[in-house]
Amino acid sequence: MKYVVTGATGGLGSRVFKHLLDIVSPSDIIVSLYNPSGATSAVKSSGVEIRKGDFTKPETLDSAFAGADKLLIVSYPSIAYEIRVQSHKAAIEAAKRCGIKHVYYTSLAFAGDSAAAVMKAHLETEAYLKGSGMTYTIIREGIYNESWPLYFGFFDVSQKKKEVVIPISDGKIAWVCRDDLGEGTAKIMTSESGYENTTLLLSGTDPISLHELGNKINKRLPEHRQVNLKVVSENDYCAHNFTNHEDWFLHAWATTYNALARKELETVDPLLRNLLGRELKSIDDTLDEMLGNLVIESSSTEVLGQYAK
Ligand SMILES: NC(=O)c1ccc[n+]([C@@H]2O[C@H](COP(=O)([O-])OP(=O)(O)OC[C@H]3O[C@@H](n4cnc5c(N)ncnc54)[C@H](OP(=O)(O)O)[C@@H]3O)[C@@H](O)[C@H]2O)c1
Repeated sequence: MKYVVTGATGGLGSRVFKHLLDIVSPSDIIVSLYNPSGATSAVKSSGVEIRKGDFTKPETLDSAFAGADKLLIVSYPSIAYEIRVQSHKAAIEAAKRCGIKHVYYTSLAFAGDSAAAVMKAHLETEAYLKGSGMTYTIIREGIYNESWPLYFGFFDVSQKKKEVVIPISDGKIAWVCRDDLGEGTAKIMTSESGYENTTLLLSGTDPISLHELGNKINKRLPEHRQVNLKVVSENDYCAHNFTNHEDWFLHAWATTYNALARKELETVDPLLRNLLGRELKSIDDTLDEMLGNLVIESSSTEVLGQYAK
């Protein structure tokens, strides 16, 4: 069985790749990279075959996917609907041309009728994949522990703000760390039976609201740096953040909080916990790592960069 993995240099794909290497031989893995010269040392030193495959240049995908049986499409990192959907459709069509037997797509944990703009391209891709006639598994990946600054009002400790604002509503999120998602995704991809033509949810086990998250953050900050979380109108939220982010992005991102109000991210599915056979890494552990040495600026920027493209 030959696997071709996209996104292996990224936050999620690199974790899937790492865990896939624990299960199958490097000779059974192909890594398809947008920019092969930017391959990480983990990819370069692994002994896997590296090929060029750019979602925005469909002609590169045939040679990238040739000869493989299973393909992992890690979703294109952007909140921009068009390029995301086009990229995913190009990968699905190339998979069909190449005779890939099973396509795995990393979707997101919002609901199937989501109010969140960021979910729209995922839902369109899910529908396209289902209609493609190919064997598929859609994996709705939970919200990363590591991405909490994005949801917590673009929190950046270096700005020393006392107030964090979010629009519309607070709501619970079943946070889950990227490494646990990567391990679960690799286990699903290598499973001999099951998961064909299904939509799975990989979630954390203990959903908490942004106010609860704020309490946890404050416990880890010195008293003079502690923050208040305030729910404001969408327009006030956009005005508050407009110096750092474009208006279209802020309004699109604000719809995420409509989804929180609908409890879209609260759902707990036992699948990931069962696949891993151990407790998942908690948001507390991630906060300890990220706030323990106050390195959150880089993480915040990294996650924001993906969506603001
Ligand atoms: N579940 C969550 O909470 C959550 C949070 C944030 C984002 N996401 C979304 O989940 C997906 C994966 O997240 P991530 O953290 O792994 O993102 P990431 O770190 O930005 O990685 C994205 C991957 O896509 C690759 N890529 C970029 N442009 C490409 C192209 N034209 N063709 C093929 N590959 C391309 C990147 O390659 P290079 O390294 O060569 O650029 C990278 O390997 C993204 O769609 C991201 O927006 C999910």
